This record gives sequence, structure tokens and C-alpha cells, in this order.
Amino acid sequence: MEVIILSSKKEVCKEAAERVVALVNRRHNAVLGLATGRTMLGVYKALSDAYRKERVDFSSVVSFNLDEYLGLSPDDPLSFHHYMHEHFFDHVNIKQENRLIPDPLPEDVDRECEEYEDAIKKRGGIDLQLLGIGKDGHIGFNEPSSSLRARTRVKTLTNETLIDNFGNTDGPRFAITMGIGTIMEAREIILVALGAEKADAVSRTVEGPVTASCPASALQLHPVAKVIIDTAAAQSLKRKDYYMWVWEHKRQVEKPHLLYKKRGE
Ligand code: GLP
Repeated sequence: MEVIILSSKKEVCKEAAERVVALVNRRHNAVLGLATGRTMLGVYKALSDAYRKERVDFSSVVSFNLDEYLGLSPDDPLSFHHYMHEHFFDHVNIKQENRLIPDPLPEDVDRECEEYEDAIKKRGGIDLQLLGIGKDGHIGFNEPSSSLRARTRVKTLTNETLIDNFGNTDGPRFAITMGIGTIMEAREIILVALGAEKADAVSRTVEGPVTASCPASALQLHPVAKVIIDTAAAQSLKRKDYYMWVWEHKRQVEKPHLLYKKRGE
């Protein structure tokens, strides 16, 4: 797991967005796994800016959202359909038919989940999955105790998540979410976390045991998982200085002229 600690929220979002831009420029028909939540707003803003500046073209990209609340209409302001339109789809050129999000009002929920999994397979699997993280360590809506091998299915949200997302426990109780097993099949994963309120979840994800009590800790088993966070979200990491040293020197290795300059000094 690579841990990248940056000093501001803006830098974190830009770093995550630039990795998406680089992938799409390399692979025009990339399959992206997309997330929602406040954390992702800056990432979508940076991606929309890159599109506006003609630095990236999403016309052949396919996207799959991680999750959606059950029972809300897609135009309900609380739905992830609405969120995605407002913050991303309305600002870039991903084709309508290539923006996939679980149906919040399916006739047959189990069939919807199976078809979502099939659609991901049919498109060749996810190249890059973006993730936020809940304060309890959930990714997508895989709440603590979720099976680390589960596929797309319905999950019941915890009171903590309802309060975090709606301010009370009256919001939608159920959601369709990709499972940890689905997420782990993405070729690359970038988890973004911002702020001190995520510090505990981040430390359990990166330095804790792999456990269903912190579903994001399963990412320790992924070969290409990156955690991009600000200093506040990194504050409880024991090996923070090491991660920072590695990141700084890795950038020097990627730019060998910096090393040569140092040698010549
Ligand atoms: C929701 C989403 C998650 C997201 C989490 C954190 O529960 N299902 O995908 O990571 O919220 O949201 P925020 O970034 O607003 O803290």
C-alpha cells in the first residue's frame, strides 16, 4: 500500500484527479470506478477543470458508481444519481450510456445486483477505482462486519453512517453497493481521505489488522492500492514520517535529474 500525505485538501484532490487524467490519456476507453461523498467533491472539481482545459477527454470512458441508496428516485437530491450529475457528469463528456450507477428502484433487487456485476465484467473490469472512506472504515456501503469477499448486494446502513450522511437516522436504510470482493478486483485503487475525523479510520486501514471490523483494511491485500490523504487525516499514523520520506524520494527517483543535481553539488 502506498501512502501519500499532502499538506492541503486541494493538493490531495488534485493528486487523485491527475492520476485519473493520466490513466484516461493513456487508455481512452478506461473503466473508472467512482465514489460519492464530500471528499470526492474536490476530485470531481479538479477533473471537470482538466476537461474544461482540454487536458482530458472522457468520451470513450465507462464509469461504474460504487453504490446507491435503495428507494430514492434518481432525481431525489439525496440520491447518488443526483450527486453524480450535479458534481461530475454535467461537467464532462462521459456518454449517458456509459455512466452506470445501481438502480435505486429495481423491480428485482437481486437481479439488479447480479446484472451490475455482469456489466462490470462485460466492460473488462474496473481499471481504476476511486474510494472515500467512512469514519467507521466503510468503503462503498460495506459497513463493518461486511464479508471481505462479498459481491454487489444490498447492505443495511449503520446509524453512524446515516447520521454522517443525513444528519439523522431518518434517511434511506438500505443501499446497493459493490462488495469488497468486487472492489478488490479493480486493477488499481485510490482511496482519498481528508480531515481529522478520518484519522482513526485511516490508521486502522493502513496500519491495523486486516479485519471486517474495518472493511477498508482489506486494501492491504491489493497489489496496487494508494491512500492519498491530508496531514490531518494522517495524524494517527505511526509510520507517517516513513511514508513522507518514501514519497519525497520516490519523486526524485521518478525525476532522475534531481538526483544527479544532488550528486554534483
Ligand atoms: C458514503 C459513501 C462512501 C463514502 C463515504 C464518506 O457512505 N457510500 O463511498 O466514502 O460516504 O463520505 P464523505 O466523503 O462525505 O465523508
